Amino acid sequence: MVEITFKQYILNSSNSLFNENHSLAIRIWHWTFFAVILSSLVTVLFASTLFKTRPNIPMVQAQIEENGGTVTHDQAKAVAHEYNDKLWDLHTWVGYGLCFLLFSRIIIEVSNSKEEKLKNKIKKALAISNMDLVEKNDKRHYLLAKYGYLFFYIIILIMAITGLGLAFEDVPFLKEIHRNIKQVHSFFQYLAYFYMLSHLIGVIRADITKNKGIVSQMINGKKL
Ligand code: HEM
Ligand code: HEM
Repeated sequence: MVEITFKQYILNSSNSLFNENHSLAIRIWHWTFFAVILSSLVTVLFASTLFKTRPNIPMVQAQIEENGGTVTHDQAKAVAHEYNDKLWDLHTWVGYGLCFLLFSRIIIEVSNSKEEKLKNKIKKALAISNMDLVEKNDKRHYLLAKYGYLFFYIIILIMAITGLGLAFEDVPFLKEIHRNIKQVHSFFQYLAYFYMLSHLIGVIRADITKNKGIVSQMINGKKL
């Protein structure tokens, strides 16, 4: 019964089965999220390379000595560490932004129209996967893309929870499990990178093959 209703709904609701609406809220959310997550990645990249504490200790010592001063290894380490800390502080602030955006995504999901709810998009993808009139590969890709969003939201939720756990490390309970939280946070970053890369390849491929205009749809919201 439910399946028939869904099939009818899908067939009636769009010219192409894979063609979708993106509300203004989700489009603004998407591009803001893209900018914020990119800033977060930049802080990680700089803090883990150019501003890493240990490799900068000799540079701090050399600069002070060139200018007539002397400094011990520990003093130079304190200076180099301060720069690294500044970047992690920035990462934490950007992280609060990501937490806020994740929260707003939940609000958007609740207030979105029936057709645009992720929950219903997954249901629609499942209904399509049971249809004979659609090519097998197309059905698989469509379903994979929708489950991909769910997968990514779960990863980001874990990054946000562990990130907050690191940010509030002074809370006694969190102090005890700080190491474990850090390990989980570090591990899940790779799944986030994996998703982002696959997503980029996926949408660009879709745009230049079977779903022309899918990217501009995410910009202007107009159905193809
Ligand atoms: C995709 C998003 C994120 C990525 C890729 C990411 C990546 C990282 C990495 C690689 C570290 C270093 C871990 C280590 O030293 O082993 C880190 C630390 C940290 N992250 Fe994130 N993170 C993300 C999101 C967040 C969020 C949402 C928050 C929430 C506030 C957050 C807060 C922190 C904090 C507080 C630290 C510890 C910084 C320090 O050592 O002082 N991160 N993050
Ligand atoms: C790298 C950071 C990015 C992240 C984390 C990200 C994340 C997401 C998420 C979570 C969705 C699903 C939105 C929903 O809930 O409905 C989405 C959809 C989409 N994104 Fe991204 N995105 C990123 C970058 C990009 C870029 C650079 C482009 C364009 C080249 C793009 C194009 C799209 C398109 C076209 C959709 C809609 C696809 C569809 O209709 O199924 N994204 N993105």
